[in-house]
Amino acid sequence: MRVEFAPSIPDDIDTIVVATEEDGKLFASAEAIDRAAGGAISRAMQVSARFSGKKGQILDIVAPETMDASHIVVVGTGDYATFTPLDRQNLGGGTYRHLDRLGARNVAIPTGHPLDVCEFVHGMMLRSYRFDSYRTVVKEDARPTVDRVTVVTQEATASEEKAARLKCVADGVFLTRDLVSEPANTLHPEEFARRATALRDLGVDVTVLGEAEMAELGMGALLGVGQGSERESQLVVMRWKGAGDDDPWLAVVGKGVCFDTGGISLKPGSGMEDMKFDMAGAGCVTGLMHTLASRAARANVAGVIGCVENMPSHNAQRPGDVVKTMSGQTIEVINTDAEGRLVLADALYWTVQNIKPDQVIDLATLTGAIIIALGTYRAGLFSNDDDLSRTLEAAGQATGEELWRMPLGERYSEDINSDIADMKNVGKKREAGSTAGAVLLQRFVGDTPWAHLDIAGTAWAHSDEVLAPRGATGFGVRLLVRFVADTRET
Ligand code: BES
Ligand code: MN
Ligand code: ZN
Repeated sequence: MRVEFAPSIPDDIDTIVVATEEDGKLFASAEAIDRAAGGAISRAMQVSARFSGKKGQILDIVAPETMDASHIVVVGTGDYATFTPLDRQNLGGGTYRHLDRLGARNVAIPTGHPLDVCEFVHGMMLRSYRFDSYRTVVKEDARPTVDRVTVVTQEATASEEKAARLKCVADGVFLTRDLVSEPANTLHPEEFARRATALRDLGVDVTVLGEAEMAELGMGALLGVGQGSERESQLVVMRWKGAGDDDPWLAVVGKGVCFDTGGISLKPGSGMEDMKFDMAGAGCVTGLMHTLASRAARANVAGVIGCVENMPSHNAQRPGDVVKTMSGQTIEVINTDAEGRLVLADALYWTVQNIKPDQVIDLATLTGAIIIALGTYRAGLFSNDDDLSRTLEAAGQATGEELWRMPLGERYSEDINSDIADMKNVGKKREAGSTAGAVLLQRFVGDTPWAHLDIAGTAWAHSDEVLAPRGATGFGVRLLVRFVADTRET
């Protein structure tokens, strides 16, 4: 889907999108189209028993012969004065779905609010995502039709700038979705590292540590997880330095388990294919870095991803093994399927030691238990810092990538004490499973303000969402782009 700006409606447009408030108050730009259509829009609105201009309602009109376009699509906004940027994006997402069903190709959106329409178009863009790389045949009726969207406005310059910034966000989200959708026979740790390395083209400094370097650093927990795999584990560090030498660094750390079989504590076969998504935290970090760099964000942000494959094999780690982390702390591996926390223990510790960030945020598809607690509408937020939590929650509200704060605490932490090592990698059977993971991570960040986002429920959509077709959602990219803009670029 291409986006263009023009001062008038191009000749080859087939569909014009206009908007109305509740009870038929057409926007000025829509009134002009209504006049050109000989009053067809107002008439259609009058005769429709359903359409009243409520937020999200859509009315389809076949344009009169006198017009070049064949269709006019009227979108209801309800009370537009109450609209937030997210409302505009959601309206765009819903409209895209409608246009795609209609088979619209070249779409014009005449507007007196071009800056607002940028957000609407951003919503359309996010919804238009497809992962088609492995289809050799795309059926005619499944092929997306919407090819070009033209925002028709006299004031293109400011809106083109805004559209370009939003395009950077969509590109980052799409990169994340591509990575998360990619099957594990393609996207193994080394391939992931290669794709992250491509961010060098945008000015990101990327370094990759292999197994020998990680062994040298004593990262026994991360390496233990990857031990059963033919593929070499990788720690990828992406640095975007958009602010000054003295400005603090934000660090964002991602779980990059390219496939999670569970290891020797093997998962059941049914549904195991979903576990290609177990690198969604790392995918988000990579997409975020793409967006920040392509927008030249005025912030210092380091993205660190621990990429491994959790496989059973004759040299896989066993339940009961004790591993030594880079921090020196030891972990008894009770269950090889609780592997994400082992990867993050070393990745977080490395990050705190080497980046010395003033805040560190990790993202991980860490626990099935968070899906039981929160479902798929919110990610779990665990943090040792109330200010960081509040700003993240606010960014979540603003972007629709919502969070819900979950507890940490001494008593939960005691549950992961081991009889023979400093800690074990699981807590009490089934109780507070997500917190058990979080308190383990907390032991590796020291006093650094830290937040852990458990995105196991939000990274993949099993049915279509307003801003994403079913599949990888790219959850976290828009949230963290917003967080960086709100807290560091001001
Ligand atoms: N990657 C999984 C978490 C997961 C499970 C995400 C299901 C999405 C759906 C993680 O590595 C895992 O296996 N966690 C275990 C932890 C348990 C062994 C303590 C879990 O949640 O069952
Ligand atoms: Mn697991
Ligand atoms: Zn996992």
